[in-house]
Amino acid sequence: MSIKPAAKIIGSGVGLPQKILTNFDLEKMVDTSDEWIRTRTGIETRYIVQDGQCTSDLGTEAAMNALKDAHIKAKEVDLIIFATITGDVGFPAAAVFVQKNIGAHHAAAFDIQATCTGFIYGLEMADALIATGRAKTVLLIGGETLSRITDYRDRNTCVLFGDGAGAVVLQPSDDERGVLATFTRSDGRLHKLLMMEGMGTKNPPHSENYHEKMQYIQMEGRDVFKHAVTCMGDAAELILEKAGLTCKDVDLLIPHQANIRIIDATAKRIKMPPEKVFINVNKYGNTSAASIPLAIDEARKSGRLQPGDVAVLVAFGGGFTWGSAAVRF
Ligand code: ACO
Repeated sequence: MSIKPAAKIIGSGVGLPQKILTNFDLEKMVDTSDEWIRTRTGIETRYIVQDGQCTSDLGTEAAMNALKDAHIKAKEVDLIIFATITGDVGFPAAAVFVQKNIGAHHAAAFDIQATCTGFIYGLEMADALIATGRAKTVLLIGGETLSRITDYRDRNTCVLFGDGAGAVVLQPSDDERGVLATFTRSDGRLHKLLMMEGMGTKNPPHSENYHEKMQYIQMEGRDVFKHAVTCMGDAAELILEKAGLTCKDVDLLIPHQANIRIIDATAKRIKMPPEKVFINVNKYGNTSAASIPLAIDEARKSGRLQPGDVAVLVAFGGGFTWGSAAVRF
């Protein structure tokens, strides 16, 4: 079966903070150890923003790098989609700050909130809007400053998360390269296993019920782990079927970088050999919606992804949400 893709990725870029927080730094902050963090998660370092730096700042840098890579001017962009759970302010969207910063004067701009699956949700949306002719040049960004909603006194969560942004530029495809298939799903019944309870309209900071912990990520790690393994495995299998591929047709698996053990389990489920699995969780930790575009950019620029290669992207996050995509680069 040969799929004629509607939209293709023509450029990518990243925006990262300068500060690096190592496992050894965390050893001084909570009762943990480099050995525990590395063996349980695969994480060694993560990037953390400095005071005053926002998600849109990282997103703007990623966007400008992606446009440069794609040889596209900001004024050609007609849609900016920013996947994030850590927008700069309650409203407006981080996407409009990027729109202003890069001077994309002809672009619509909005955020989507699908936690760690946000980039895949955005990819599906960009592909659909390009397929119907509603958009021509889409800037899709995944970016987070999770350090702002992380409790650095809670060892169960603070060792896991990092900040960063990645962006891609999509345009209509005129060849065999592009988005071959996408799949997205959610299950809100399980939202309590991974959430930030406060800061929204249910528990605003000025309400009687508000307590300080509500401004931080809360997670039942073990349960999240089990669901992540099942859902990412299912999503990876399903996208192969949907795109008419076998694991032999896939050049690179790019899983959401949350935990090395979840990545290994997903790869095993679709029988991808280790050399075809992209891993950078060691450097960045879990950057939620930024994790897949950070990986795409690194894979493209390091030569792990060559033009014409097929990659399977797969993610899982709070909500729960999960999803996958098959893309010919
Ligand atoms: N350092 C040392 N010990 C720790 C730490 C730490 N940082 N964190 C927890 N522990 C302890 C626990 O307190 C527990 O101690 P106890 O046995 O005395 O109670 C022990 O280590 C084992 O805890 P578990 O929760 O069973 O450890 P597990 O092997 O499950 O690893 C982890 C924990 C890494 C959080 C794992 O469950 C995980 O990765 N879960 C998924 C998390 C995730 O990926 N979330 C994001 C996905 S969705 C998204 O990306 C937003």
